[in-house]
Amino acid sequence: MQITAAVAPEPGAEFVLEAVELDEPRADEILVRVTAAGLCHTDLITKDDPRRREPIVLGHETTGIVERTGREVTGVRPGDRVVLSYRSCGACRSCAAGDRAYCARARRLNGSGRRPDGSPTLTWRGAPLGGSFFGQSGFATHALATEDNAVRLDGAVDPLVAAPLGCGFQTGAGAVLNVLRPPPDGSVAIFGAGGVGLAALLAARAIGVGTTIAVDVLAERRELALRLGATAALDPGEGEVAARIGELTGGGATHAVEATGLAPVFEEALAALGTTGMLAVVGLGATSARLDLRDLLHRGKSVRGCIEGDAVPQRFIPELLALHAAGRFPLGELVTAYPFADINRAVADQRAGRVLKPVLTW
Ligand SMILES: NC(=O)c1ccc[n+]([C@@H]2O[C@H](COP(=O)([O-])OP(=O)(O)OC[C@H]3O[C@@H](n4cnc5c(N)ncnc54)[C@H](O)[C@@H]3O)[C@@H](O)[C@H]2O)c1
Ligand SMILES: [Zn+2]
Ligand SMILES: [Zn+2]
Repeated sequence: MQITAAVAPEPGAEFVLEAVELDEPRADEILVRVTAAGLCHTDLITKDDPRRREPIVLGHETTGIVERTGREVTGVRPGDRVVLSYRSCGACRSCAAGDRAYCARARRLNGSGRRPDGSPTLTWRGAPLGGSFFGQSGFATHALATEDNAVRLDGAVDPLVAAPLGCGFQTGAGAVLNVLRPPPDGSVAIFGAGGVGLAALLAARAIGVGTTIAVDVLAERRELALRLGATAALDPGEGEVAARIGELTGGGATHAVEATGLAPVFEEALAALGTTGMLAVVGLGATSARLDLRDLLHRGKSVRGCIEGDAVPQRFIPELLALHAAGRFPLGELVTAYPFADINRAVADQRAGRVLKPVLTW
């Protein structure tokens, strides 16, 4: 079928809205009419990755309405509202242990640009187009997904809030609620107050953590963090971040989240931990960083990498929506709607810090 999609042509180029051809749903697939899709930093990293060899349709924080389902699909029906998240195989050792974010087939299922059997779902100007991004490629009017990455929504949920739960909000909230689990008298330092970092902040606030500190280079982000209830918001440009966190927490943070993907920030976050503190590394981008082993050993610190907040979407996203409905997780404060036609303006506004989480709508 013909759909409209925001195609990312060559790395570095702007998105272009184009008519493209989407495959019919196969037996295990579902066709979703997209109502909204959030913009995550990972979309932009992939868009501008110089190693990318073909045009692609990105978007992995999608919400919409199921239009059609393949004959093997039993968990969702046409008319259901869904949020689309990451894919997992359900059969490998990690999946069997409940660690779906660490699925052995994650790369193939989420980042190969094709179905797992290698077939393309999209064609553009007569040639295959990269698709199946996180099993969805949601920057389009329609997306092909599967049951394993679809989360059915009960009742009406604001699409602007629902869409980013598929990745960014789930990732930040999960880093705190599933991985770090700070106690109320603990302290959480969050490096990078973007969509991921501020979802982590809201999660820490939701479980009553007394001290929350956001660190961001952008004044707008620091102001937003304070409006959302952060105890303090620090400008790394003023230096001495770890020392200032030490003062604010009486010896270092009990927990920290690295949500920038920058190696020097990772090093600062580790230094900002107090004795036996734990750092969750969430930011993507850096490939290596320095680790002060003496600091790590003698102060009993730990570092834990974390994909998608360790969340099983079908379980965690409804939990977050319940917190949101109870007024304890005000995600509406983080999102700004843009028509899909303005996707490049949304990217520019997010980069400049004018908005936090753009959500594209049809
Ligand atoms: N692990 C996962 O599963 C997962 C999932 C989603 C996103 N991510 C990654 O998480 C990171 C955050 O994503 P996002 O969507 O929130 O991005 P974002 O761009 O909205 O947020 C990043 C923030 O970091 C700030 N920043 C930049 N340099 C800084 C510095 N030196 N010190 C402090 N802050 C600095 C930016 O101003 C921005 O506010 C990205 O690297 C993204 O790829 C990982
Ligand atoms: Zn698996
Ligand atoms: Zn993402």
